[in-house]
Amino acid sequence: MTVSLEQLRRCHFAVDLGASRTRVYVKGLGLVVDQPSVAAMNTRTGALIAVGEFAEKMTGRTPDYIRVVRPISGGTVVDIEIAQRMLRHLLGDKIRRSLRRKARLRAAACAPHDADPLAQRAIIETLVGLGARRVELVDTLIAAAVGCGLPVERPEASMILVCGAAATQVAVLSLGSIVCAERLPVGGEAVDQAIVQYLRHEHALMLPNQSVRPLQLALDDNGLTPYGPASTEIHGRDVVTGLARSVRVNTAAVREAVQTPLMSVLDGIGKVLRDCPPDLVADLADRGLVMVGGSALLPGFDQLLREATGMPVHIAERPDVCAVQGIGAMLEGRIEPLVLDPLAA
Ligand SMILES: Nc1ncnc2c1ncn2[C@@H]1O[C@H](COP(=O)(O)OP(=O)(O)OP(=O)(O)O)[C@@H](O)[C@H]1O
Ligand SMILES: [Mg+2]
Repeated sequence: MTVSLEQLRRCHFAVDLGASRTRVYVKGLGLVVDQPSVAAMNTRTGALIAVGEFAEKMTGRTPDYIRVVRPISGGTVVDIEIAQRMLRHLLGDKIRRSLRRKARLRAAACAPHDADPLAQRAIIETLVGLGARRVELVDTLIAAAVGCGLPVERPEASMILVCGAAATQVAVLSLGSIVCAERLPVGGEAVDQAIVQYLRHEHALMLPNQSVRPLQLALDDNGLTPYGPASTEIHGRDVVTGLARSVRVNTAAVREAVQTPLMSVLDGIGKVLRDCPPDLVADLADRGLVMVGGSALLPGFDQLLREATGMPVHIAERPDVCAVQGIGAMLEGRIEPLVLDPLAA
């Protein structure tokens, strides 16, 4: 997946198809779409009823004939046709018309670090269906590192942790490339799932997935570390009686429940550091690691990493949109090309 900045500069728009959110950057316009990757279909007619924010609100609240689907799962486009229809609606007529006017429409897209050829093909097919004649794929790790302003092109180490919904990717970058990287199949979704299961087992409480975020917010102020509040009140449905009920939940126990998914992230970071040449690890000891992706906002996650690794940990300014903003910067030509052979110049 090597693509030159020159080729990226010729692209007209960039897409980040995430398991949780879809983002589109149009050259000259900036970030035009940042919506959940969700579509609601009428199963009788096959018509698309809603996409994005509105379709997500319908989850779990639909009659039989409406089905809410997520065409992207685990970092892969699993339903190309619905992904294309969803993207068309998210872009809207005005932007689609302006893109159609380009003689040879070129698109760029983020692809997860070790995306297999089939997953790469699925992203390309999706964008070709939108009218793109050529599609350039950029590694999410590079896009995100550029997007959060890391000095990737310098001969010094930068460490980045991309915390998405379906996966967490970690890498050490130097001289514009990935030195070592790891992709772990746990992310925000696994953390939400761990909390839902804990409440079901310990309190016989069924928590709708949409209520997991309020729980995380209740745990805020270092919620996932021992410095947060001791307990918090949660509303849900009793598993046995089916009636609405609220319980007081011990935050230390919730913390314990989310440890399992977060532990594998720590393992991944350890593995990348072990594989990395010692000179680069020495750089990292003072510069630390930067967290991007929506799950970087998980309360107390940064503190947990700080304590486990002993390195400085920073959260990027807008962690959720770093990857697409990074490709956007490359499209606009705001990134200087790397001169790797100055002697020949
Ligand atoms: N404020 C927040 N607190 C906790 N978690 C959050 C917050 N905001 C977003 N998230 C989590 O971040 C995840 C979405 O992150 P992001 O938008 O980076 O994912 P994605 O790019 O769609 O997924 P992927 O890259 O894995 O395909 C969701 O799982 C969501 O629960
Ligand atoms: Mg992502």
